[in-house]
Amino acid sequence: MCGIVGYIGNRRAQPILFNCLARLEYRGYDSCGIAVSGGGVKLYKDTFRVDEMARTVPRLSGMAGIGHTRWATCGEPSATNAHPHCDCSGNIAVVHNGIISNFQELKLKLIAEGHNFVSETDTEVLPHLIEKYYNGSLEAAVEAALGDIKGSYAIVALKSGETKLVVARKDSPLIIGVGDQESFAASDVPAILDYTNRVIYLEEGDIGIMTNAGIKIKRNGTEVDRKEHKIPWSVEEVQKAGYEHFILKEIHEQPRVVRDTLVGYYQEAELIVDLEWMRDAGIEAMLILACGTSYHAGLVGKYIFEELLRIPVRVELASEFNYYPQTLAKTMAIVITQSGETADVLRATRRLQEVGCRVLAITNVMGSTISRLADQTIYTSAGPEISVASTKSFMAQLVTLYWLVMSYSRADVKRLDDMLMGLRQLPNKIQQVLDNKSSIKRYGKYLSGYENVFFIGRGLNYPIALEGALKLKEIAYIHAEGYAAGELKHGPFALLGRDTPVVAIVAKDDTYEAMLNNIREIKARGAPVIVLFEEEDGTVGKIADFVITVPKVDFRFSPIINTVVLQLLAYYAAKERGCPIDFPRNLAKSVTVE
Ligand code: AGP
Repeated sequence: MCGIVGYIGNRRAQPILFNCLARLEYRGYDSCGIAVSGGGVKLYKDTFRVDEMARTVPRLSGMAGIGHTRWATCGEPSATNAHPHCDCSGNIAVVHNGIISNFQELKLKLIAEGHNFVSETDTEVLPHLIEKYYNGSLEAAVEAALGDIKGSYAIVALKSGETKLVVARKDSPLIIGVGDQESFAASDVPAILDYTNRVIYLEEGDIGIMTNAGIKIKRNGTEVDRKEHKIPWSVEEVQKAGYEHFILKEIHEQPRVVRDTLVGYYQEAELIVDLEWMRDAGIEAMLILACGTSYHAGLVGKYIFEELLRIPVRVELASEFNYYPQTLAKTMAIVITQSGETADVLRATRRLQEVGCRVLAITNVMGSTISRLADQTIYTSAGPEISVASTKSFMAQLVTLYWLVMSYSRADVKRLDDMLMGLRQLPNKIQQVLDNKSSIKRYGKYLSGYENVFFIGRGLNYPIALEGALKLKEIAYIHAEGYAAGELKHGPFALLGRDTPVVAIVAKDDTYEAMLNNIREIKARGAPVIVLFEEEDGTVGKIADFVITVPKVDFRFSPIINTVVLQLLAYYAAKERGCPIDFPRNLAKSVTVE
């Protein structure tokens, strides 16, 4: 997820481009660049943050330009891979947000036709294709080029000698800001709000032509009308897209995150699941290493790997792993880290490699240290996560683990088909939770009045009990413990009473009866119980104090749905307590020290 911008009008483009890019940095910040036309195309790009870049670029007089702030997806963060990208002549420049899935074959064809490529990116095929089809009209050449493209894109293109910008979008966001004799293009509204609050939203497949005289939108070559909208928000607000907190926005992005994660893997199935070597190497065990929320994703991974692969899986805290001897014969290691910079995970990875263990990394940050260290890296598609407490990145990790095990498993086709069907339904099921928050809000407020809370679950939902407790600790500052439900009677029961509410995750699987018994035991000790369950059946409703009903899904995916409920529960408890939800005290988004 990158940020792209464009400007054409009667003011110098340079300062406007940098100001707009600065507002989009939450979308990606590993490198950036601008291209301004006026006496040819002037291109500046490097692995700087936007403000640094703005300081290094000399004064440019051009009044049309494009810009990009990057969240690397294809090709590591580097000055060469940074955007804008140009054609051989340097007269055509393009910025892009999205993934071009057929870029390899297009690149080979273009090279065979004499085009020189300088970067590792998918995006670079665009200016070369535009150059190939250019015959006096930039928009016609862009339209032809997009005809060859598979995947998602939002682009802004310019050509020296043509006083216009051409924009287009498919599966990536792009808006046009309307000004007086000037117009702006951007990935998101925050970028342009300093200049205008008049916005046109491009539809899928639209091509926009922006000139000093105005804006034309075309669709399949025909001019179409698009309504202009007035944006009532401040920049700050919009960055949160109208949500009060980044975490609430990120929780609401999860249907998209699941969709993007699945779409990404469909296109690159053969690339990422290169685990055949495991069989050849006679791998007999797996070790998953991570910290915090990522560790909880690993625990869910253990259940599904063992169920579908029938090999033993150990999950360990990276911070602990580094301090005791290991037997790693015939073991494959997976390290999970959102930031890719967590010191404990990096150290553990090096230790593993020292003893000849092959390491597969699952991370959300392209170009992060772990992606350089690991033998193989899978990137999640959560996009930049601004709130310190992880939510959507955890979701992307879970879906990645489900996909990984399914694409490697030899389980019967029927079961895999059912799971695939279940995965595809998840975005809508998550949306149902997000659209029906009233009981979650109520019980979040209820929990905000307590200082000690227990979360319990069994099987696949035991790690989710741990995650629910971590979220309540992190953002609401309530002491919370996650427990395997069967463990309470081995000690923690001593703490139970009226002041220790228990949140119990009940799933319609083979742990159902045992969970009901645990709830009865807890009730017998006077503790209030909130139950998450997929339907209001007489039994659960009778024994629990409160029930949060969740959409019905294949039991293997119940962790996904229950996670969203517990994220929101913690959010509303934190809100009730007036906590600094996005940036909790004493925490950092990535822990780069041991
Ligand atoms: C979770 O909300 C926290 N931000 C923290 O526990 C985090 O999961 C942990 O520090 C691991 O970070 P990583 O995934 O970036 O390695």
